[in-house]
Amino acid sequence: MAESRLAKLAAHLTGRGSKAGFRVAVLGASGGIGQPLSLLLKKTSLVRELHLYDVKGTKGVMADLSHINTLTTVRSFEGNAELGACLKGCDLVVIPAGVPRKPGMTRDDLFKINASIVASLAAGVADSCPEAFVAIISNPVNSTVPIAAEVLKRKGCYNPARLFGVTSLDVVRANTFVGEASGTSPERMNVPVIGGHSGNTILPLLSQTTPRNSLPEDKVRALTNRIQNAGTEVVEAKAGTGSATLSMAAAAHRFAESCLRAMNGESGVVECAYVENKEPLSQGLPFFALPVRLNKSGVSGFAPLAALSPYEAQLFDSMKGALAGNIKKGQEFGRSFN
Ligand code: NAD
Ligand code: LMR
Repeated sequence: MAESRLAKLAAHLTGRGSKAGFRVAVLGASGGIGQPLSLLLKKTSLVRELHLYDVKGTKGVMADLSHINTLTTVRSFEGNAELGACLKGCDLVVIPAGVPRKPGMTRDDLFKINASIVASLAAGVADSCPEAFVAIISNPVNSTVPIAAEVLKRKGCYNPARLFGVTSLDVVRANTFVGEASGTSPERMNVPVIGGHSGNTILPLLSQTTPRNSLPEDKVRALTNRIQNAGTEVVEAKAGTGSATLSMAAAAHRFAESCLRAMNGESGVVECAYVENKEPLSQGLPFFALPVRLNKSGVSGFAPLAALSPYEAQLFDSMKGALAGNIKKGQEFGRSFN
């Protein structure tokens, strides 16, 4: 069926006038994360239109996805000249554009390439959909989110309630590893993960899991270490061909769907995400991942957390300087980008 007829049918069947579906863009849609994420979004009923953008390759991804029998319509856009058309009217923009790590690299090593990619895409958002929720996957997340914030600020449209660093993969991993270790289904497990998204800035709160666990201290330490280094585990297993893509797509889809459910008026939506905030727990760090309450307007508040365990407090103290440095580096780059 021609795309325009499919769009009309979708609008008719879902009563789009009442905003029962949203326009979502994936920037970096031809990549290792972008393709499976786009597949999951094509199968998400709250996505009315899916816009695929990349420097190359989106026509093929669109042709492929558009044969899946859902009402979501798919359009492709390639190159900077088509970025504005891609973003126009988008409610949610998910950004996995940029290079991934190879063994031996840190996420910060990606800064020199990914910083300007994220900055230019954020400028595109400011120009074409300044009200959209923006979810940044591109690493180093600790810096790319402050970069985007500065670009949006300079364009006069920064809304801290709508800019997110996607840290859901840390939660997904923590749920899996802690669930396995404590004999609980990973699907029932919920481990809050706060801080940032690299090495020791990833701070899983194993003292605050739901359901509660009774893991011994040595196990807590081993699991914490595994969660902090899980990205490297995948990078090494992939041996130079990239980093986590499939688990990341699943995690990003979870986060995107939560944003759409909140936009659609659902209450009680909470996801951990790296956002600008002044919560006491962040101890003065302007960007910090916390369990965020979402509503139609974006971040509406933060879910309460109990005091950190002595071990978690010690981990917090030892990562604070590194995270502050990552944030400052991103802010400085964002302020000077043009
Ligand atoms: P990839 O190389 O497979 O795909 C990246 C895509 O981005 C490519 O298709 C490329 O053409 C595209 N791209 C490059 N420059 C672009 C631009 N200016 N505009 C639009 N698209 C552009 O990489 P990947 O495995 O998909 O990873 C993407 C990023 O996500 C990396 O930076 C990686 O470190 C990060 N990542 C983050 C998390 C997280 O938890 N936040 C998890 C995994 C990976
Ligand atoms: C991850 O946590 O898997 C990503 O940040 C990718 C990486 O480089 O580890």
